[in-house]
Amino acid sequence: SPSNLQMGESSMLERANCRAKGGAPGFKVAILGAAGGIGQPLAMLMKMNPLVSVLHLYDVVNSPGVTADISHMDTGAVVSAGFLGQKELEAALTGMDLVVIPAGVPRKPGMTRDDLFNINAGIVRTLCEGIAKCCPNALVNLISNPVNSTVPIAAEVFKKAGIYDPKKLLGVTMLDVVRANTFVAEVLGLDPREVDVPVVGGHAGVTILPLLSQVKPPCSFTPEETEFLTKHIQDGGTEVVQAKAGAGSATLSMAYAAVKFADLCLRGLRGDAGIVACAYVDSKVTELPFFASKVRLGRGGAEEVYQLGPLNEYERIGLEKAKQELATSIQKGVSFIKK
Ligand code: NAD
Ligand code: LMR
Repeated sequence: SPSNLQMGESSMLERANCRAKGGAPGFKVAILGAAGGIGQPLAMLMKMNPLVSVLHLYDVVNSPGVTADISHMDTGAVVSAGFLGQKELEAALTGMDLVVIPAGVPRKPGMTRDDLFNINAGIVRTLCEGIAKCCPNALVNLISNPVNSTVPIAAEVFKKAGIYDPKKLLGVTMLDVVRANTFVAEVLGLDPREVDVPVVGGHAGVTILPLLSQVKPPCSFTPEETEFLTKHIQDGGTEVVQAKAGAGSATLSMAYAAVKFADLCLRGLRGDAGIVACAYVDSKVTELPFFASKVRLGRGGAEEVYQLGPLNEYERIGLEKAKQELATSIQKGVSFIKK
């Protein structure tokens, strides 16, 4: 019966809470937009993450179904009642350590990420108002596009609420790194797991700036290879949008990248040393207020934002182009809240 289900659920939740309190590495994670193309595989992969003790799945449609399905997986994380619609947003967010946001519309062929602004800006604002109210200390992993503008929107919402901690707001650019590692490994004939490519700037077109001069293991590329790889990495999202031909954008590789990034955030929260990843954050690395670069993740979030390191001529030209577009996208996000 429903009441038995509820009792079972609450005692399971108590046990999960006990595990977390007893020093076991258990964090409470909410996914907002959990029934979507990214949200569903992301929820599945988070349910498999041993650092997660409680998983809240929120969406404006179908979250009870996704929750019921995922809750049958015999892994440690407890998935409690599906959180459906605005009236359940606060319950979904209360007590969370990490909030991952893949809510919003994806691109169709012919669109830029900025074309999503009109719909997604309002969605991100509402969700971030909920975070400010219910879990102001949570780490936020923002996936909704256009990331270059939605992160500044989130920051302005948090500033307005008086709870902005720049270290806790992270725009997710891990998919660019995942793509860069894959494409560079193909060219070098290496296993992608051995390759590490820093990708800086932002998350759209020319703002995606792979630093091929800093690839690990150390290697060199011909000018043709550099041009090919840079374009392939910058256009990776568009290539998927075109291949899906109207059915959306990257979802599975994004869910993989989001979980890879969320896992690093949770390891940082746990206090592991030396956790470094690229993310789009509040930054003093350039004159722009937000910029993606390597950050060190710790108990407080992005505790250190690293400088870009030496760039070659090709990358210096790319950086100037990236900054121009980024400045416009950041301003657009800021004025959406300030207007
Ligand atoms: P989708 O349409 O399949 O799923 C989006 C989900 O968000 C849907 O389930 C929808 O109901 C939900 N949603 C809509 N409004 C909401 C609200 N107010 N509150 C909560 N949930 C709401 O789209 P998708 O393919 O999962 O993509 C989601 C977003 O992620 C898009 O904006 C896309 O551009 C972006 N994206 C970003 C990256 C990145 O690298 N940062 C990569 C891929 C996609
Ligand atoms: C991506 O890089 O795959 C996402 O930003 C989705 C998109 O619209 O390209």
